[in-house]
Amino acid sequence: MEIIHLSAECYPVAKAGGLGDVVGALPKYQNQAGDIAKVVMPMYRTKFLYANEWTVDFKGQAQMGNWQFDYTIIKESQNKLGFDLYLVDINGLLDRQKIYGYDDDTERFTAFQIAVVDWLSHWEHRPDVVHCHDHHTALVPFLLQHCYAYRHLASIKTILTIHNGQYQGWMGWDKSVLIPSWDLWKRGLLDWAGTINPLAAGVRCAHKVTTVSPSYMAELKTNANGLEKLFEYEQGKCVGILNGIDNAVWDPATDGYLTHHFNRKTVQKGKLANKSSLCQEFGLDPNLPLLVFIGRLVGEKAADLLPEAFHQAIYRFPQKASYLVLGSGDTQVEWSLQQMGQLYPGQFSTVIGYNEGLSHRMYAGADFLLMPSRVEPCGLNQLYALRYGTLPIVRNTGGLRDTVIDLGDWEGYGIRFDQASVDDIVYSIGRALEAYADPTHFQWMRQHMMQIDHSWESTVESYRNVYLS
Ligand code: ADP
Ligand code: GLC
Repeated sequence: MEIIHLSAECYPVAKAGGLGDVVGALPKYQNQAGDIAKVVMPMYRTKFLYANEWTVDFKGQAQMGNWQFDYTIIKESQNKLGFDLYLVDINGLLDRQKIYGYDDDTERFTAFQIAVVDWLSHWEHRPDVVHCHDHHTALVPFLLQHCYAYRHLASIKTILTIHNGQYQGWMGWDKSVLIPSWDLWKRGLLDWAGTINPLAAGVRCAHKVTTVSPSYMAELKTNANGLEKLFEYEQGKCVGILNGIDNAVWDPATDGYLTHHFNRKTVQKGKLANKSSLCQEFGLDPNLPLLVFIGRLVGEKAADLLPEAFHQAIYRFPQKASYLVLGSGDTQVEWSLQQMGQLYPGQFSTVIGYNEGLSHRMYAGADFLLMPSRVEPCGLNQLYALRYGTLPIVRNTGGLRDTVIDLGDWEGYGIRFDQASVDDIVYSIGRALEAYADPTHFQWMRQHMMQIDHSWESTVESYRNVYLS
């Protein structure tokens, strides 16, 4: 089976979050399982672009509104990622430093999707599956089925995976001219509440829709940023498949970012060595349990609660733990967290920014990882934490609910709480510190969580079943 993944992100080419991790790994494991999986993404100006060799695969021209544009498809020459990687270059529009965050993102990703579909229309054969990821590629099923120029591709099976239903790619109807000449009777497929909603269009037009955990699939019917009724109506073609992790990249025994490697047997010593290095780097006390937060500092992750929750935890449990935060996002939250570093030197440190290497070292050196997310479709951080023997403290939602068992339950190895509130976070930190005080049980939990299998090998089959259904 030939599967074409379309995505705005793919690790290590360009990553802003978990979407990049998934698209950088799933195709590799699909290939290993015997299918032919490829990735097509925009050509941004990234380190990966300049550090690798490329061949021109195709040059074409397509139309977006009045604008006829040239596009070039380049292919990575050495199969470095374990799958064929194609980048779409549209001069001036995609070749920028950042993935998202420009005023013309609507035009950028619409042009990307048009170019991809146009390119596919020049292929001598048809791929079996076009697998779209999130709203940046969710117009593709509509383009394939209802644009006059591309309708000969309508039989290609399309899958839409929703990694995050909060973002839907809304655009006003004035932008409908961007979409190449389409069947106006199909207007209803694009519209949701008076605007063009690419995610909704994808849900309606894709043959199958998946989300990245079963619990999130269920939650979308009651909490989908306005699309609840749509998910209820379309539930027959929707399925939740829990993400895997790339065990080749995320392995504490071989991780290239770590200086102290460890496995299940050596976890206690190994984590201590990693913690000591980390604490030395950030001026924290290595003798205390270390609690970390890694992620986007946004409302979905409940980052706004962190400053107050950490203040209260430090007040309630004085000199009982150290805290390290890595992330960026809301400037007010960034500022508050940076202030905490100054208020509690030796106990609290904040790194604002994105730092892949540091994140690995934090998973390895921390005792606890906090994820109080309001919305968490799957969450990869807690899966990495489990693999690195770091006890996850999570809110009971989405993929967190599907992957963490509370230590109060049979064979539990984490802490779960219900409300995204300061009280619940502080209470859970208290429970974590109690658990830390029982070294035998704590060691058992570490060893237990490290052997849980969240590999892609065991997940690719579920996607295969969706493609075939
Ligand atoms: P989301 O995609 O919603 O941000 P996930 O848990 O699925 O959340 O994935 C987040 C990914 O991004 C993980 O690989 C995590 O380690 C990484 N990450 C998030 N913020 C940072 C950061 N500031 N520095 C380095 N890695 C980060
Ligand atoms: C999104 C979600 C996150 C998920 C990731 C990968 O960014 O917010 O929960 O793990 O996609 O699917």
